Amino acid sequence: MGQRDQLLIDELQSICEQYKKVVLASSLGVEDMLLTHIIAQQKIPISIFTLDTGRLPEATHRLLSRVREQYQLSIKVYVPEASNLEKLIEEQGTNGFYQSIDARKACCRVRKVSPLARALEGQEAWITGLRREQSLTRQQLEKSAWDSDHGLIKYNPLLDWSRDEVWQYVRDHHVPYNALHDQGYPSIGCEPCTRAVREGETERSGRWWWEHPETKECGLHIAQQ
Ligand code: ADX
Ligand code: SF4
Repeated sequence: MGQRDQLLIDELQSICEQYKKVVLASSLGVEDMLLTHIIAQQKIPISIFTLDTGRLPEATHRLLSRVREQYQLSIKVYVPEASNLEKLIEEQGTNGFYQSIDARKACCRVRKVSPLARALEGQEAWITGLRREQSLTRQQLEKSAWDSDHGLIKYNPLLDWSRDEVWQYVRDHHVPYNALHDQGYPSIGCEPCTRAVREGETERSGRWWWEHPETKECGLHIAQQ
């Protein structure tokens, strides 16, 4: 095992020594798969949840089933609240998120941000797969910070990992990953808001590709306006 891998394991274990209720937010992206693999292999007491927006690609659902079987892990799935979702669709239509940034943010709020708040209720620390290198909006992140929106500490243990380092680990350890990653999708979210990128384009350029890079956060990782 490499030194960096051991440091990551130590870091996750030390979070669990400080806090009893620790959760990993997994989008089933490659970073979250790496963390899931370590949590399962090392039997680290971190529960895992995912936010099913109702618009995820089928490949993500297939991976979720595979992870549950392979690691014998129970991954808790949070879905949008039915009445909020019905109201959203009434207001903006099924694909209203293409109309404006506000409409897009409203959709993310109902489908991801509100369910995230429920997922974090009663928890003491949450872990993400965020990396600094992923985008402009993520340059200033810290390895850990108080999340005042949700009232708990947030850890980004892969913050300084490069994309290549993540993929090296995943290949070396045969970690399962989303089939879309091999079809030009470095970053995967909802199906209608994610597209493949071309050689040389930035990692998250296929997410909300019609928006400017500085607005491209769905609200999971920025304070709510
Ligand atoms: S997003 O905010 O633009 O969607 P991205 O896809 O880069 O974020 O993922 C960054 C981190 O946010 C993931 O590593 C994961 O911790 C968390 N995350 C993103 N989407 C989800 C989801 N659907 N369910 C749970 N966690 C998620
Ligand atoms: Fe809605 Fe797109 Fe946000 Fe998914 S990523 S919640 S479909 S706006």
